[in-house]
Amino acid sequence: MNSAPSSDGTGHIALVGAGPGDVDLLTLRAVERLRAADVILYDDLAGDALLSYAREDAELIAVGKRAGHPSPKQDEVNRLMISYAKLGKRVVRVKAGDPAIFARADEEICAARAAGVPIEIVPGITTATAAAAFLGTSLTKRLVARRVQMVTGHDVDGALPSDLDLAALADPGATTCVFMGKATFPALAQKLIAKGLSAETPTVVVESLGTPATQVIAGSLSEIAARLAAAKPQGPCMILYGAALAGVGREIA
Ligand SMILES: C[S@@+](CC[C@H](N)C(=O)[O-])C[C@H]1O[C@@H](n2cnc3c(N)ncnc32)[C@H](O)[C@@H]1O
Repeated sequence: MNSAPSSDGTGHIALVGAGPGDVDLLTLRAVERLRAADVILYDDLAGDALLSYAREDAELIAVGKRAGHPSPKQDEVNRLMISYAKLGKRVVRVKAGDPAIFARADEEICAARAAGVPIEIVPGITTATAAAAFLGTSLTKRLVARRVQMVTGHDVDGALPSDLDLAALADPGATTCVFMGKATFPALAQKLIAKGLSAETPTVVVESLGTPATQVIAGSLSEIAARLAAAKPQGPCMILYGAALAGVGREIA
């Protein structure tokens, strides 16, 4: 069960969803936890703007890749969160989007529970739905898209996962949201077309959502690899494909 912070001085960890980057898409609960935090662990993807809600005396710890420095290992992040919480601190671990979606929350929850530290998840708006909102579209459409699926394009070694369910991913009645797929999507697109998904399937890439550098790359499934190669996006990319995306994003791209 979720454990809200208590007022008796017991340490506590909150995994807080930062949403897609726009500070006004934080939830009220996220702002409340940030304001109350003694220690905030944050990374690049979650964005710095939300740190304006931190108390002046809060300890801010960057745990993402910064200035070419590698990010701390997951075990080190777990250790930091737990050791501060055991000192009686209110610890906030900020995560981009929603903490329950491709954010390694499970490892942090298990580590905190194993250490006997109360932990809470504060949900955030995932980049997948925020990208749809930015594009002004719905991920589901009556009689067109009856299913939404979220998938990672990135295995532990950075390659396209070899055990993806290609039949599900090639379902023409689904809208698929691909996380961490910038480098591997061209290979995935080829596999999907080979599996029978139309090469004309509308595909939209939203880069660096919620920042001034937001860019949209749109095209068909067969065109998108060349468009990605030409645009060379540097920021994080949310890739959406499916019939529900017909006509979406081309006016922005
Ligand atoms: C580690 S996952 C985090 C997902 C996050 N928990 C969520 O719910 O959106 C990182 C991936 O999320 C997507 N992402 C995160 N922030 C993004 C942003 N500002 N713009 C576009 N995609 C983003 C990208 O696919 C990126 O590779």
